[in-house]
Amino acid sequence: MSESPTRTLRVVGIGTGDPEHLTLQAVRALADIDAVFVLDKRAETADLVATRKRICDAHIARPYRLVAVDDPPRERNPADYGATVEAWHAARAERLEAAFAAHLGPGEAGALLVWGDPALYDSTLRILERIAARGRLRLACEVIPGISSVQVLCARHAVPLNAIGGAICITTGRRLAAGWPEGVESVVVMLDGDPTFAGLDPDLTIHWGAYLGAPDEILVAGRLGDVADDIRRLRAEARTRHGWIMDIYLLSRDKSGIPKDKSLGGVQGQGPWQGAALHPPKDSPFGSP
Ligand SMILES: C[S@@+](CC[C@H](N)C(=O)[O-])C[C@H]1O[C@@H](n2cnc3c(N)ncnc32)[C@H](O)[C@@H]1O
Repeated sequence: MSESPTRTLRVVGIGTGDPEHLTLQAVRALADIDAVFVLDKRAETADLVATRKRICDAHIARPYRLVAVDDPPRERNPADYGATVEAWHAARAERLEAAFAAHLGPGEAGALLVWGDPALYDSTLRILERIAARGRLRLACEVIPGISSVQVLCARHAVPLNAIGGAICITTGRRLAAGWPEGVESVVVMLDGDPTFAGLDPDLTIHWGAYLGAPDEILVAGRLGDVADDIRRLRAEARTRHGWIMDIYLLSRDKSGIPKDKSLGGVQGQGPWQGAALHPPKDSPFGSP
């Protein structure tokens, strides 16, 4: 095992795309960075790289290197989900480690910009753990928390995440399909490629949001039984329009967040976020949790 002098890596949560989501801590962490590493998932996410580049240009005060690292391809509907994700993470770790070794000099500081918050359904921290475990490259990692899509969803709808004293579960569409989790009043669902809402109590309250933080953000809230079809229709239309979609929803037993007029909350263009950058032609660019 060869030892190398320490390089610093800052994992910076950047929020959901609105440049104003960056915290003051994130801005400070970027100011003196030497290199920024971006996992360039596929050609269609070139625009996501551009979004990050805009953030860098706005906040990095000196010349820096932008290093796009090719993301290894991943089977979307594998027979063995765990083994597929494991192999994918291993391949990502190898590529990132090689990029750090090649493009970050000893004593320099690099940054990885992570969508939302790095701790929430994102594999970056797990991959850095792998790199550390291999022991070939000495990296001092710092994590700067970011504003997650869960927070933005609640803020846009102006609702609390939890019922008073209630438990919350944050889960995926895949897991929700197995049924309502035990013992919780509120469930946040992320990474749901096709929300059918099948088997759910129609009296639940739903707060749904797509492209949160973007000018073309869409919000819908109401009794699930009343708005489920509208959400599916709006979602399908938006997905066709953009070529892909990212959306999230909060389901709760508490009915207090239902708007009185039950109208669809099509709030659009709220932020200064440069939404034109996020219109890649295929499916959601997000990887696995
Ligand atoms: C891989 S996870 C990344 C989550 C991210 N780390 C966070 O803190 O929000 C991607 C999922 O986050 C949610 N998401 C992220 N950004 C979003 C946005 N701008 N609008 C709606 N949902 C979003 C969606 O459920 C999407 O499938």
